[in-house]
Amino acid sequence: MLLEVENLNIHFKSDRSKNPIHAVRDLSFSVKQGEMLGVVGESGSGKSITNLALMGLLPDSSLVTAKKAEFNGHNLLSLKDKQWQKIRGREVAMIFQDPMTALNPFLSVQFQMVETIKAHMDISKKDAIDKSIELLSLVGIPSPKDRLKAYPFELSGGMAQRVMIAMAISTNPKLLIADEPTTALDVTIQKQILDLIKMLQERQNMAVVLVTHDLGVVSQYSERLQVMYAGEVVESGPTKDLISHPEHPYTHALLGSRPGALVDNLRRVPKTILPSIPGIVPSFNERPIGCQFSPRCEFVTPECQRSPIPIFESEPAHREYRCIHPIEHVVIK
Ligand SMILES: Nc1ncnc2c1ncn2[C@@H]1O[C@H](COP(=O)(O)OP(=O)(O)OP(=O)(O)O)[C@@H](O)[C@H]1O
Ligand code: SF4
Ligand SMILES: [Mg+2]
Repeated sequence: MLLEVENLNIHFKSDRSKNPIHAVRDLSFSVKQGEMLGVVGESGSGKSITNLALMGLLPDSSLVTAKKAEFNGHNLLSLKDKQWQKIRGREVAMIFQDPMTALNPFLSVQFQMVETIKAHMDISKKDAIDKSIELLSLVGIPSPKDRLKAYPFELSGGMAQRVMIAMAISTNPKLLIADEPTTALDVTIQKQILDLIKMLQERQNMAVVLVTHDLGVVSQYSERLQVMYAGEVVESGPTKDLISHPEHPYTHALLGSRPGALVDNLRRVPKTILPSIPGIVPSFNERPIGCQFSPRCEFVTPECQRSPIPIFESEPAHREYRCIHPIEHVVIK
């Protein structure tokens, strides 16, 4: 395994309460070399802070603990700043939703790319420029030599995201974390960027963690899928299997909330098919004792509300779900 995380917990100190906020709870997952893991969940479910915690980028007000958080032989939670400098941006790279916030508007693309490449590789400025041109061409930027001279504000959103991707892959990272990489872009450009990330994943045998709100996106691009809700993984497994036979009512509801979803093909069809899931994610000080999804779940029973729900496994499909009344498998024809 390239990345292995077991029982990750993230707490934040809070001015408003004596007890710290428990934002991510007992999260376990792994990523193999060369595979794409899709992570999906509503806003506030803990997708971004999980990645930031693993990259050592959370503020000092946070407390991150884990039974295991290992990436490529490094124990991520014990790394010192100097050790991080060798790993972050080199072995693992991140791209974010808005490329404009990550690029410096006052510095040319060339300056920023050359700086990034030279920070991680012992090469001359000329070679770094040549490599930048090669990378811009690889990510589909026309006239890369001219574009290198441009400033970020002269680029469209899609072009700026391509520059970010070129910078992220410049050191041949083993893992790319893409946190909502296309949310700020229009639909046609979204597809181009996701196709580009997929092409690079396959070409460079790079692992990718693709975070998105959009189940449709991950179903097309990722090999495995992890569904998060209120700081917990509620379901995970091979993407195709999970999408066609969701076990957790939250995944089922998410699928049902997609336009044109095949809800009628699932045996336990909700009584009312709504365009979105009713209710909201519970706030930190109102977390239920039992299942976190219980206030919104139409299959809830008193048993669901009594105590925290453990994770159940179903073999041989390598499926996991946090639900005591999973939706039974049906074959979608
Ligand atoms: N510095 C912080 N201090 C306290 N709470 C925080 C801090 N950063 C994040 N949180 C809380 O942690 C929770 C998870 O946030 P996170 O940004 O990971 O959500 P997300 O799943 O990425 O959502 P989105 O889809 O909107 O990006 C949120 O409820 C957020 O308010
Ligand atoms: S444990 Fe109960 S409340 Fe939670 S998702 Fe399953 S059926 Fe719904
Ligand atoms: Mg986020």
